[in-house]
Amino acid sequence: MPTFYDEAHACYFAKLFAPHDAVLQHIYDNIPRRGLPAITIQPEEGRFLQFLARACGARLAVEIGTLGGYSSVWIARGLLPNGKLITLEKEPHHAEVAREHFALAGLSDCIELRLGNAHKLLPALSAEGPFDFCFIDAEKSGYDAYLDWALANVRPGGVIAAHNAFRHGAVVDPKNEEPETLAMRAFIRRWAGEPRLLGTLFPAGDGTLIGIVEEGECTEKTHHEEHGGRRVLP
Ligand SMILES: C[S@@+](CC[C@H](N)C(=O)[O-])C[C@H]1O[C@@H](n2cnc3c(N)ncnc32)[C@H](O)[C@@H]1O
Repeated sequence: MPTFYDEAHACYFAKLFAPHDAVLQHIYDNIPRRGLPAITIQPEEGRFLQFLARACGARLAVEIGTLGGYSSVWIARGLLPNGKLITLEKEPHHAEVAREHFALAGLSDCIELRLGNAHKLLPALSAEGPFDFCFIDAEKSGYDAYLDWALANVRPGGVIAAHNAFRHGAVVDPKNEEPETLAMRAFIRRWAGEPRLLGTLFPAGDGTLIGIVEEGECTEKTHHEEHGGRRVLP
């Protein structure tokens, strides 16, 4: 079965479903202008995060890796009324620019940026949970630890998402054996087999792994096999 989704489809659908308003356009353009790397998610990925947050009825969300706050604004716009997004960023300059963007978007009350290394901030954040939604988009070597945290702190029925599953095409390039690519392949295998997640992949942009947190744990492999491969929760 051929796949039809390509650059032309991405542009066509992004234009329809993820058009930038003046605020998002300013944030998108201003990120490289202020000297931050142009490594934000793409508009259609932003729309998808907004959609996911709304679909799971998110009131309390966490984002790991803010940069200039582009994805934060998309997520915050998907939250239920009076919802809150806590976003974690280790670079002070990125945090400063992001905070300006949140003010411009009228979201300073809704988005709280915490400055610091996410690995140090997350343990204390657990006390403020459970969370409804978690978006992981920081250094790739931390993804396993971030997923461990998310699985322990996102409620059943909540959603976890992790960006850059494709690593710009590297994960399906058999010749690419860079450590980051090997790590992402291992992470994707973990995601695909993770019994606490109903997981899949959103293949737009650079690929986003997504999963709904399951109600219970399916611990025994034989349990899957007994039910013809279907997951049946205790
Ligand atoms: C890919 S960018 C995030 C892009 C953003 N989600 C968007 O699409 O608009 C990754 C960000 O994570 C931050 N970061 C990397 N490692 C981190 C860590 N251990 N703790 C907190 N932030 C981290 C980087 O400084 C960078 O700003």
